[in-house]
Amino acid sequence: MSKSNISYIDKVLERDLDALSQAGLFREIRNTQRTSAVRAKMNGTPLLLFCGNDYLGLSQHSRVVRAFQNAAERCGTGAGAARLISGSSPEHTRLEKKLAAWKRKEAALLFSSGYLANVGVISALAGKEDIIVMDKLCHASIIDGARLSQATIRVFPHKNYVRCEDLLKRGKNFRRRLLVSETVFSMDGDIADTGELVRLKEKYAAVLILDDAHGTGVMGAEGRGVVDGTGLEGRVDVIVGTLSKALGGLGGFAAGSQTMVSYLTNRARTFIFATALPPAVCAAAYEAVMMAEKNRALRQKLFSNMRHLQEGLSRFWKRPITVETPIIPLIYGDAQAAVKAARQLYKKGILIPAIRPPTVPKGTARLRLTLSAAHSVEDIDQLLRAIKALGND
Ligand SMILES: Cc1ncc(COP(=O)(O)O)c(C=O)c1O
Repeated sequence: MSKSNISYIDKVLERDLDALSQAGLFREIRNTQRTSAVRAKMNGTPLLLFCGNDYLGLSQHSRVVRAFQNAAERCGTGAGAARLISGSSPEHTRLEKKLAAWKRKEAALLFSSGYLANVGVISALAGKEDIIVMDKLCHASIIDGARLSQATIRVFPHKNYVRCEDLLKRGKNFRRRLLVSETVFSMDGDIADTGELVRLKEKYAAVLILDDAHGTGVMGAEGRGVVDGTGLEGRVDVIVGTLSKALGGLGGFAAGSQTMVSYLTNRARTFIFATALPPAVCAAAYEAVMMAEKNRALRQKLFSNMRHLQEGLSRFWKRPITVETPIIPLIYGDAQAAVKAARQLYKKGILIPAIRPPTVPKGTARLRLTLSAAHSVEDIDQLLRAIKALGND
């Protein structure tokens, strides 16, 4: 189409896109072909990936893939409808039971993504008469769920539980108080103080929702998540998780009491009005949970990779780095500087895209480096050499 035929709305949108480009914030989807859990080809160029959330490498594990294939042979490619319409397959029911037991909760409910789980849970549990108190660094899906609920939203500075308490205290006269936090923060890799969150929830009679998207499969001896082994499981009202990160597939879930799950089944619109996950996806996730729970060697490899990276980085990275989880942010601040660093790494065969606002707060653009059990020590050494060279380029 010639430029003169461009519609009014496209002209307006192009101006906005130009502004994004000028600010170093323009985003593009690149074509990649994954060749293993941590390798891909882009335009024929082989790349080592340090940017995914496949923390245990389960998306490519032969047992998980076989479970997917077998179920697809039996059940086809899709669920056909929402489960309240066409019923629940044995694959859905079995996975929910397993997730509930793994998370030490009475019941669990599957959603078609982690995003939909957060939006559905929060908008079902809060309304106009309620207040939602949340950590400033909560994921977009938590923010969107809170906005959709029409509740009053109050945000406390990241992990500042004194301010959190203040907001809960001031929220005393609302019908209901929801307290929401991630467990492992997705862009910073640090961990919430879940003991303190439970204490505050109990003191102010709030409903505590923890998004364990990045803790599930990674944290705790059996990968149950951040509250694994703390004895706090029974005191958290809803644990949200995803099947799309350490479990290597797609989908989300909420685990809680039987009553909570019945309520969400009746009230969470993103469950009621969305087509269910394909049974084959559930079969793969079931196998992935079994492996995440029983195969401790996978998690040991991941943590040994984390230690290797920490040791290597501490030799030359100027700012202090604490590697608590497989998410390690290398903060540049300026979006253009982060994009430049990402480009330089790309030239060295490493993919870590720059993460820029609005995904992270203004002035904190970064490379979000992530590790997997599927990385070898040689892969990490290659990464360390490339990061070290950035400083000299
Ligand atoms: C903390 C957190 N919650 C929820 C989600 C959404 O999960 P999913 O990708 O399964 O939709 C993400 C994904 O980026 C996340 O990081």
